[in-house]
Amino acid sequence: MTHETNLILPSLLASDWSKVAAEVKRAEDAGAQWLHLDVMDGSFVDNISFGPQMVQVVRTCTSLYLDVHLMIHRADHYLERFIKAGANNITIHVEASFETSVAATLARIRAAGLQCGIALHPKTPFESALPFLHEIDLLLIMTVVPGFGGQPFMEKETMPKLAAARHYRDKHGLKYHLEVDGGIYTNTAPIARQNGANLFVCGTSSFGPPDMGQAMRELTAAVA
Ligand code: DX5
Ligand code: ZN
Repeated sequence: MTHETNLILPSLLASDWSKVAAEVKRAEDAGAQWLHLDVMDGSFVDNISFGPQMVQVVRTCTSLYLDVHLMIHRADHYLERFIKAGANNITIHVEASFETSVAATLARIRAAGLQCGIALHPKTPFESALPFLHEIDLLLIMTVVPGFGGQPFMEKETMPKLAAARHYRDKHGLKYHLEVDGGIYTNTAPIARQNGANLFVCGTSSFGPPDMGQAMRELTAAVA
């Protein structure tokens, strides 16, 4: 799949965790192709979500592509566990601390045969991504402060950065996907689309409504 394909990615964070298997099935039935899994460590972000065991549980429920977003320090220390759990893509934050380095961690993800991405906090300038852009499959531009679902889309702070990331990619013949995450609804997704996003992480707006199929169709139409 190229960066010219638009996808809506339901974020498991917003699902009903009392019935995760059924929620994964609901996302499948609603037409999702990729699922987004938010891992939080209570240190890099001010919240704790789940770890590799949850990724593994989801893996046993589905063959959907699992896009794992690590909002954690020392992602390199935990990396093997997420690879074994069945992640397809692993995204790490450039602002996090590492036992080795961002570059070494990306290299290990690729060597394991997975796709890899880097994520930028809303406050982090695009320039922080420059050393890694030739090595990644995906660049995640956070559109909220990472840590919680249900926050408002930070348009002014993040859309110029997204546009710069697209411009740089196209100018240099690179192929990375541009992903946005946080506050994506039918009214904000088109703004992100206009600025270059093709992967749209949707928590509240996908798992929230009772008819997830309809929600996914509306979100897909909004970025068509
Ligand atoms: C936020 C997470 C998001 C979150 C988005 O830290 O990275 O993936 O699930 O949730 P919504 O779509 O509700 O803003
Ligand atoms: Zn996320």
